[in-house]
Amino acid sequence: MAEQPHLPLFEDWSPQMGIADCGDSDWTPPRRTTCGKLPIHPGAMGIQFGQSVFEGCRAFWNGADPARLFRIDEHYSRLVTSCERLRMPVPPEQLFVEAVANQLQDATSWSSPFPSDTLYIRPVVFGQDDHVMPIPSARTTFVVLTAPLRLFPREPLVLFAEREFSRAAKGGLGHAKTSANYAHQYLPTWRAKEAGCDAVLWLDAETHERIEEASTMNIFMVIGEELVTPSLQDTILPGITRRSVITLARERHGLKVVERPITLTEVAEAIEDGTLTEAFTASTALQIRSIARIVDRERNIDFPQETPWMDRLRRDLDAIQRGEADDEWGWITEVPVL
Ligand SMILES: Cc1ncc(COP(=O)(O)O)c(C=O)c1O
Repeated sequence: MAEQPHLPLFEDWSPQMGIADCGDSDWTPPRRTTCGKLPIHPGAMGIQFGQSVFEGCRAFWNGADPARLFRIDEHYSRLVTSCERLRMPVPPEQLFVEAVANQLQDATSWSSPFPSDTLYIRPVVFGQDDHVMPIPSARTTFVVLTAPLRLFPREPLVLFAEREFSRAAKGGLGHAKTSANYAHQYLPTWRAKEAGCDAVLWLDAETHERIEEASTMNIFMVIGEELVTPSLQDTILPGITRRSVITLARERHGLKVVERPITLTEVAEAIEDGTLTEAFTASTALQIRSIARIVDRERNIDFPQETPWMDRLRRDLDAIQRGEADDEWGWITEVPVL
């Protein structure tokens, strides 16, 4: 497929979606329906008070063999954490996987609104009760949307170090994939774009010095002989791509991976003295992308352009996802496309 750099990563959703409802505690089996509008009260908890969580997963299909769904069990565990954090009923794992598989099985999910060999999968769970006060909803809906993904240019990213706003505070929602977690980013992202950057670099809420993550991506740096990534805490989303990169680096390449705090000052100094040789991001939607620059107030931190470790890890991940290498760690679930 030719690259179409001026178009968005996603064009639109596939024509069908999966849906299941929960009353007091029992879930209906997943059913398929036209992707479109749902009857929902404007006071629904999911709209009014942000009682809504989601996932973002990927699957690959070469048009002949079964589709390859990546690390669906990890996505399910993270959904459980997110639902529990918002005190929502959790769809059972079997129902979750079945609803996702139903979407993959339908060839039209991959061909409309345009054909793609990669499908982005967006399971969403939201509260339907329309209380006046923010109390947990008993009635909950689970939907699975899919969207064919475009090939996108893998140009290095320019990140805007956000020194004023914060993504997450200790004890908050940062580690869960809740919709509320994305509401804070509209204004900072707009400001980052105004400054000519691709995405926001989130720093810790207390000192605005420690790097946490980028807009929807975890961060890695090669410093000396180590691959370093910010240690997980409840202010950082535990990315599934992040986890996969760590496994590949450690187990396939014997690279030492260190999870620890990294400050912007350390990064600037390590570039200066030549010990920081690579920086990149990891996420399901954008996969692995190198970082060209961090714009931090008046200074620019420019990263080396050669990225041998990142290139190797990206190739490894691509090959497993596309079935061109052994699925050594059991990350793939095969789903026949009918
Ligand atoms: C805030 C945030 N951090 C990190 C990630 C990367 O996580 P994953 O690799 O599971 O897509 C995402 C993507 O969903 C995200 O939204």
